[in-house]
Amino acid sequence: MKRYINISDFRKVAQKKIPKMAFDYIDGGADDEVTMARSSSAFDHYALCPAVLNDVSDIDLSTTVMGTKIDMPLIISPTAQARIFHHTGERSLAKAAAKFGTIYTLSSISSVSIEDTAKAAGGPKWFQIYVMNDRQILRDYIQKCKEAGYAGLCLTVDVPLTGNRERDIINGTGVPPKFTARNVFNILSKPTWLWNRLTNPRVSMSNIEPYLENKDMGTLAKFTAMQLSKNVSWEDALWMKEEWGGKFAIKGIMRADDARRAAEAGFDAVIVSNHGGRQLDQVAAPIEVLQEIVEAVDGRCEVILDGGIRRGTDILKALAMGATACMTGRPFLFGLAAEGQAGVERALEIFRNELELDMLLLGRKDIKSIRSSDVRKL
Ligand code: FNR
Ligand code: LAC
Repeated sequence: MKRYINISDFRKVAQKKIPKMAFDYIDGGADDEVTMARSSSAFDHYALCPAVLNDVSDIDLSTTVMGTKIDMPLIISPTAQARIFHHTGERSLAKAAAKFGTIYTLSSISSVSIEDTAKAAGGPKWFQIYVMNDRQILRDYIQKCKEAGYAGLCLTVDVPLTGNRERDIINGTGVPPKFTARNVFNILSKPTWLWNRLTNPRVSMSNIEPYLENKDMGTLAKFTAMQLSKNVSWEDALWMKEEWGGKFAIKGIMRADDARRAAEAGFDAVIVSNHGGRQLDQVAAPIEVLQEIVEAVDGRCEVILDGGIRRGTDILKALAMGATACMTGRPFLFGLAAEGQAGVERALEIFRNELELDMLLLGRKDIKSIRSSDVRKL
């Protein structure tokens, strides 16, 4: 395996290994990609304040999120269709997470099913839900998650419709993709990816497949788009929470009033997220609204920060501001595209190594000793 020094190294290798259409689907955001860029760069507007002469001989990164003890405070975000990027897809993401003792969140529109992901990896898992008009499908999903032992559900509320991703329009990304001469030439220049694609089972929307006679991707995608509900309400979210009866998070909260409402309604966690800048552009970075959301929920539910995490120090800043843990997606997808499961593991290892060293240098030996005075707004 190539030498990977930091998280941005995976992006460069992924760009060489997979077709442009697939790379841009991961790498791109909505409109001018302002929010996407800001979600990472905004961390630079906060500074860490190291404390000295503390015993930091044993660093402990473990913590508990929605009742699950994890070995490091970084969770893998849900991302669609991972087998497009590497033929092993979600299985590799889940196995790597299990190996590092953290949670893997499986997307509703994954390319490996709820039950097959659970069979592949024994670690703690959450399942992400997009609300479908046919409530029976949701009931079935919830039942499958119960049978497969998922530890939590996460309802994503920022996708009534997909955002305006101009790279995808230019590339002809979609189902089916537009095969222009340029696209075909680009795909032919990625022989390993192409070989794996042709010698492995086709990529599918595995959770949706059982509901349709015709299982070609075009039909599955059309059905999913039709099923995505634009009128999801707080009542619907509560209905799902009741059906599940276990730990339940809402992902895509960016305002104090929505966070307060979620906490009052009894949800276990709010995931502060702008969907990695892929939905509405010109939205704030998660780190910029974290403080007000932590204050609004006032300890009644957990707050998880999702998006833009690229360094151990980013995680420390979020924890100091009151987050229980952080989530990110792109670093692991680039790791997967670059090296399969080994790449996801190396990305997790880099985050873990950075966190360990950063905590030591910050003067905090465990997660619970990190406090609000460890960070300041510049
Ligand atoms: C996503 N994200 C996402 N979120 C979700 O709830 N369900 C999904 O199916 C997807 N799909 C998806 C695909 C791809 C390719 C990406 C990059 C992202 C959003 C994801 O969970 C998370 O919010 C962002 O990835 C956070 O930004 P960073 O840290 O990955 O840049
Ligand atoms: C995305 C959708 C699938 O961000 O959530 O691509």
